[in-house]
Amino acid sequence: MITEAIKSKLRAVVGDENVLDTNLDRFGYSYDSSFIPLLPANNPDIVVRPLTTDEVSKVMVIANAHAIPVTARGAASGRTGGSIPVRGGMSLALDRMTRIIEFDERNMMVTVEPGVRTIDLYNHCAAKGLFYPPDPASWKFSTMGGNVAENAGGMRAVKYGVTNNYVMGLEVVLADGRVINTGGKAIKNVTGYNLTQLFTGSEGTLGIITKMTLRLISMPKARNTLQLMFPSLDDACATIHAMLQAGIVPAAAELMDKMSLQAVARHRKLDIDQAIEACVVIEIDGEDTAALDKQAEAIEKIARSLRVAEVRIAADAKEAEDIWAIRRGLSSAVGAMAPTRLGEDISVPRDAFPEVVRRIKKISETHGIPIAVYGHAGDGNLHPSVLCDLAKPGEEERVHKAVDEIFAVALEVGGTLSGEHGIGMTKRKYIASALGEDGVEVLKAIKLALDPKGILNPDKVW
Ligand code: LAC
Ligand code: ZN
Repeated sequence: MITEAIKSKLRAVVGDENVLDTNLDRFGYSYDSSFIPLLPANNPDIVVRPLTTDEVSKVMVIANAHAIPVTARGAASGRTGGSIPVRGGMSLALDRMTRIIEFDERNMMVTVEPGVRTIDLYNHCAAKGLFYPPDPASWKFSTMGGNVAENAGGMRAVKYGVTNNYVMGLEVVLADGRVINTGGKAIKNVTGYNLTQLFTGSEGTLGIITKMTLRLISMPKARNTLQLMFPSLDDACATIHAMLQAGIVPAAAELMDKMSLQAVARHRKLDIDQAIEACVVIEIDGEDTAALDKQAEAIEKIARSLRVAEVRIAADAKEAEDIWAIRRGLSSAVGAMAPTRLGEDISVPRDAFPEVVRRIKKISETHGIPIAVYGHAGDGNLHPSVLCDLAKPGEEERVHKAVDEIFAVALEVGGTLSGEHGIGMTKRKYIASALGEDGVEVLKAIKLALDPKGILNPDKVW
């Protein structure tokens, strides 16, 4: 219960206009980009929008004193309910903290606040010839606090890794309002436990990230995109696998099955040949166009040996951008195909990838539930999208069986429940199957040490 007296204290910290508590405001902060149903129980009691670390710290002192649940929120582009305030309390919206604090060209690092949009960070660095590679599909609206808190992935993970490969240091406000700094600009650092990596991907359950220092690399001088169309899903998967085996490391290698392609076609009014069962989109980059031509030629040769129907090599940056726009819009397009979509995020060892795709298609047939398969094939991270109508009799049970089986396959081949979306609310019940009971106990012990009252993003992760 947040009393008027507590509200007054919060208003005194962040200003009247940054404390919201109308029903409409509360509803607006109750959902994210997952398909978790809208529920009044997920409304926060109050929304607080701080501007500075000092304000976040003071807000946390108040929240901790009164044991108010606090759920941090950026752009709410998360897929697993991470920013949904399931226990009410406070939605701590960090969207006003949008400063790029320092661009350190000499050390090739940038320090930003959590509300900076991913694409703005990318463009800011690109304008100075430096490259921030992680590019979650949502990068046009997702914000860096969420990227770090969820350890976001993206298309370019094949060659460049994911968010945590770039996080050098963090400023974190702890549950009781204390502020700590982890890591820093030193490349080598074994001073104590690696708290930077602990908070990265902690889904708002261990602290509030208020600043992050990120490592940058040189911008590749040349870049191009290939789009390959296959009459067989198996051959599409085999092409990606063969390409990696041949030592070709593309920046990105994405797969879309027929159902995903149909969703895109419907959405964008494109005409896609019915005989096409899969599309592979590959980004290559390198020193110069000659290096790219060599890579493109080698990829085309492999694809031809695996019966590719069509090879399109983008003629210019605009054409490449158009191809990637289709891929980035895929999740929304697939989501619009059915009343409910459960978008999963399994990640498997790369050599198991073709087999896992086949097995998911089998699961779809067995349960009579359409499952669109697309994802970051080059790094083994797949997004099987279970398309369903939970209002249909028996559908919920069938869907849950299908999802259970997808997770079982992922774990059986040595993979994991989430490659890049986190556990949040939607995968909680499976976490012990991935980490073991003792593994989960370790997570709980860490949580208890950092947040003894359990106020930070309660009911998430396990
Ligand atoms: C994507 C998001 C859903 O890859 O991760 O489209
Ligand atoms: Zn993804």
